Amino acid sequence: MIEKGREGAERLVHVSAASADYDVTVGAGTLLELGRIAREAAGGSRCCVVSETNVAPLYADAAEASLARAGYDVARRIVFSAGEQSKRIGTLGEILEALAERELTRGDTVVALGGGVTGDMAGLAAALYLRGVDVVQVPTSLLAMVDSSVGGKTAVDLSAGKNLAGAFWQPAAVVADVRCLASVPADLFRDSCGEVVKHAVLADAALLDELTARPLTADQLDERRLVDVVARNVAIKRDVVNADERESGVRQTLNLGHTIGHAIEAASDFARGHGSCVAAGLCMMARACARRGWCGGETAARIEACVAAHGLPTGCEVPVDELMRYMAHDKKRRGGGVNIVVPVEVGGCEVRRVSLEELRELVELGC
Ligand code: GLY
Repeated sequence: MIEKGREGAERLVHVSAASADYDVTVGAGTLLELGRIAREAAGGSRCCVVSETNVAPLYADAAEASLARAGYDVARRIVFSAGEQSKRIGTLGEILEALAERELTRGDTVVALGGGVTGDMAGLAAALYLRGVDVVQVPTSLLAMVDSSVGGKTAVDLSAGKNLAGAFWQPAAVVADVRCLASVPADLFRDSCGEVVKHAVLADAALLDELTARPLTADQLDERRLVDVVARNVAIKRDVVNADERESGVRQTLNLGHTIGHAIEAASDFARGHGSCVAAGLCMMARACARRGWCGGETAARIEACVAAHGLPTGCEVPVDELMRYMAHDKKRRGGGVNIVVPVEVGGCEVRRVSLEELRELVELGC
């Protein structure tokens, strides 16, 4: 249950992407302010919460009460089965039908309440319904707060791979209440720390050192620290999205650790957590780049130390041939090459194009 509280001051991060401007509000107890924030940012007199079976029982009542207090006519919520297996065209179709059944109009608002799967799917439904209605993202997992709720990427999975059908659809607002993180299982929270470490490597050397000295896993219930770390992560992502909303340039650096990480994830048939795989991919790429002379050995060591401090893997047991099979089919592959992200130094990463043969050499060096 979300109660009013004072731990950790509220922080606003303003996103100014090419297609939209919006605020990300990060705080403790912020869910109670959802209605006011949505009212100021999004249009319409009606709204509808889209959530899933694990999150809805915990937070949908509080979210809807806040929306109603702000004057919204709140339509009957839409709840789908929790889990990545729901992130399919079929569920998306059901959400769209349910929005139509509730007679939401073009000026009304979808409220995406949940983790990454919910944000991606409800965001895509909002992009498609009536050719686009407002969506307010209300992330309840660490991964969704620091990454997927910000920047406008929405998608569903296809049989051929994850996130293969989607759209860029920026939210009207993002409301991140770190109090929701208290209900996240510790293993899942730890997994999401992989993306937090990645952001620090990309753009905040001081944050990386702080996280190594005191891993975020030690502070899942420390609202003040969570507000600070989540807001700093959002600001890092905001800077990238502001510069390159459509991932034609610098946004590709957010894929740091993902080339190898995605292959590890796919090789486990998605049984391993995304953040853990990104953490392992990040360390492997950093070691490979150090051995290749593209970054200093101390950079790779700093990255590994932070990953290890969070109890996340710094490598993987998957054979190179198998990793290469998945990487050859990666959706980010272009022509005969792959864009990889090189951690030249902590706080300074760059995109480099390599052939599949060069990538294989790097993976061998990183193992
Ligand atoms: N999660 C990477 C991005 O939003 O671009």
